[in-house]
Amino acid sequence: MRVSVYIAASLDGYIARENGSLDWLPGIGDGDSTEDYGYHEFMETVDLLMMGRDTFETVLSFGQWPFEKPVVVLSGKRLAIPDNLCDKVETMSGALAEIVSRLEQRGVRHVYLDGGRTIQGFLAAGLVNQLIITSVPLLLGGGRPLFGPLERDIRLRHLETRSFSSGLVQSRYEVIN
Ligand SMILES: NC(=O)c1ccc[n+]([C@@H]2O[C@H](COP(=O)([O-])OP(=O)(O)OC[C@H]3O[C@@H](n4cnc5c(N)ncnc54)[C@H](OP(=O)(O)O)[C@@H]3O)[C@@H](O)[C@H]2O)c1
Repeated sequence: MRVSVYIAASLDGYIARENGSLDWLPGIGDGDSTEDYGYHEFMETVDLLMMGRDTFETVLSFGQWPFEKPVVVLSGKRLAIPDNLCDKVETMSGALAEIVSRLEQRGVRHVYLDGGRTIQGFLAAGLVNQLIITSVPLLLGGGRPLFGPLERDIRLRHLETRSFSSGLVQSRYEVIN
């Protein structure tokens, strides 16, 4: 099973303000642009999304559920999933390797992993294959970091970098675990 991260970060590496706000993040197709930064093409390759509880709560706050694919939310808490999402969202917790093998047994082949601390946990466990990171040209100076402390270096192979007229720069890396 492949695990991919597709995420936007400020140039100084934050994915949200400390209070969780994404007000600095350009929306897909903002202004006159129809540019989606490869989002739909990537989404088509994904079988399932896995996200941390904080990211799930942010998505819920948007009001309209944006995903057609099944979603797994990681949480150590007992989460109340809204009735209208019961057939789309399930919660899991526990050892990451066990979660991955449960999904593999179901035939899941490509997971889109989302949420900073969640991504950090999977990276530390050697369970991420690909990083697609879109840098937004601003410095937030603080907030929720994409990456965090590691007990060992994680080597990456750079595959591609694209720049967009909006100023966003997207790089794709393969993780050499
Ligand atoms: N810039 C972007 O493209 C982008 C993308 C995604 C998210 N975001 C933003 O980033 C913020 C969320 O990121 P974050 O780093 O704060 O948190 P996160 O990774 O979304 O969620 C962290 C939570 O996930 C749960 N979790 C993670 N790993 C787990 C495991 N192995 N087992 C059980 N539970 C696990 C825990 O929930 P419990 O505390 O319930 O146990 C943990 O507190 C939000 O503000 C969101 O809007 C930005």
